[in-house]
Amino acid sequence: MVSPSDDYKKKVIKRYDGFSKYYDSLDTGLVQTTVERRKKAVGLLNVQPDHIVLDVGTGSGLVLPWIAKKLISGKVYGADLSTGMLEKARERLTPDIVDRVELKVEDIEAMTFDDDFFDSMIATYTLTTVPDPWKMMRECYRVLKPGGVFVMLDTGPPSKKRGIPVYLWMRLSAILFGYTKINRRLEDYLPPGLVIESEERFYGYTVYLTVMRKIK
Ligand SMILES: C[S@@+](CC[C@H](N)C(=O)[O-])C[C@H]1O[C@@H](n2cnc3c(N)ncnc32)[C@H](O)[C@@H]1O
Repeated sequence: MVSPSDDYKKKVIKRYDGFSKYYDSLDTGLVQTTVERRKKAVGLLNVQPDHIVLDVGTGSGLVLPWIAKKLISGKVYGADLSTGMLEKARERLTPDIVDRVELKVEDIEAMTFDDDFFDSMIATYTLTTVPDPWKMMRECYRVLKPGGVFVMLDTGPPSKKRGIPVYLWMRLSAILFGYTKINRRLEDYLPPGLVIESEERFYGYTVYLTVMRKIK
């Protein structure tokens, strides 16, 4: 039987497979600040040369080379359900980093990785896209090692009232162009044992860069 989430998942795959050819030019080509914020998010991962890192909903794999360049014996996994987006990610893998990156067709709501597998993980603009954010966060918690860091960059309701006009404009754009659910609040989906260590806000307090840690 197909659950509403399965239907939604099929829509997400169809949308991103179709969108994959234009994703980079529309998302990061037009809005350079989103590239800078992703770089900042990678910096907060504190990647060590032997780390095993997960990029949750990697899409076209923008952050993968930045992580891979910090690794020696470690590996970064890029997980996504859209094969179109993963093909774009593959194009980024230059000979110097290709051995340190593994692209995987994975449902981030039900991953095939073992418990406590990753030293750290990152999710950029994924929480607002995934059909079931509770399942995604529960899975991320499961596969993260105790003590590991989870860095999230995404859009959500503003943390201060003066961000409301920007938020309303972004919400309208999200509905018209992105079909993304920017009304989701990360705090509502935190599993017990995953705690927020720091949060920075940008763009009218609507874009957040949050560092979480698995404490048990
Ligand atoms: C807005 S894109 C962000 C991509 C990338 N992280 C970035 O910063 O450009 C969201 C990605 O999440 C993926 N996604 C959504 N739901 C998923 C799921 N259940 N399993 C795996 N990937 C999923 C989509 O296919 C898409 O590539």
